Amino acid sequence: MSDYKIIDGKATAASIKAEIAEEVAHMKAAGERAPHLAAILVGHDGGSETYVKNKVLACEACGFESSLIRFEENVTEEELLATIERLNNDPAVDGFILQLPLPKHIDEQKMTMAIDWRKDVDGFHPINVGRMSIGLPCFESATPAGIIELLSRYGIETKGKHAVVLGRSNIVGKPVATLLLQKNQPGDCTVTVCHSATQNIKDICRQADILIAALGHPGFVTADMVKPGAVVIDVGTTRVPDATRKSGFRLSGDVDFENVAPLCSYITPVPGGVGPMTICSLMKNTLLARKGF
Ligand code: GUN
Repeated sequence: MSDYKIIDGKATAASIKAEIAEEVAHMKAAGERAPHLAAILVGHDGGSETYVKNKVLACEACGFESSLIRFEENVTEEELLATIERLNNDPAVDGFILQLPLPKHIDEQKMTMAIDWRKDVDGFHPINVGRMSIGLPCFESATPAGIIELLSRYGIETKGKHAVVLGRSNIVGKPVATLLLQKNQPGDCTVTVCHSATQNIKDICRQADILIAALGHPGFVTADMVKPGAVVIDVGTTRVPDATRKSGFRLSGDVDFENVAPLCSYITPVPGGVGPMTICSLMKNTLLARKGF
């Protein structure tokens, strides 16, 4: 099989942002307040700076208000907790995120739990995770929601299919497995989650109708692991040094795209696949926070 289709996350994300912007323009025309997303950024990690900058730009594109609250690396837990409390109680802020990772002296779990789940547009709070797992209205974690949106917009049949998820992180592997398992469309899959202790990982991957790679291991998925006709979703975004780029790095996915793509029915590229969808999901969650469940 070599007539594979590229799942264009960049174009899909642009359409969704345009749809959101239109809805927000109507809200404003009706005299309603625009959605407002706040972001807390600690330190100067290059990846986090880029993500947060892109989130602020996406807010502008959607007609949202945005605020960026910065702290230096030496911020204390008390200072962060005070800011979270202030945002929890600020009626002008619909949702907010605390950009991860945080410095080692800060307990990420403690900070996440301090966020009011009704403003947790990242969907990381245990209440949102729990509500998602039993199918209640909630903020879904952004990357998994973006993957589901791509499957939906490309009309990919998922019912009864075997989905194999590589990786068990709390922000991608576990929640995408949960969403694919739900009795929903997209969803209704038989789901297998593989991780670093999985035996026979290649054999399991070869059984996948839908293969989701979220390990952060460049080029892990090779052609011998992919069933002809499979749908392959690459969540990897590892920065690998590249002297030919102005930035000094390029993004590398978890899939050996060149050799895997000809086997697939659909595949996401890196960059331009899942990545742009993540911020879109955050925008959708912020709009939902503004309107209410
Ligand atoms: N770090 C990496 N991805 C994310 C994300 O989706 N949200 C937050 N808050 N931090 C991240």
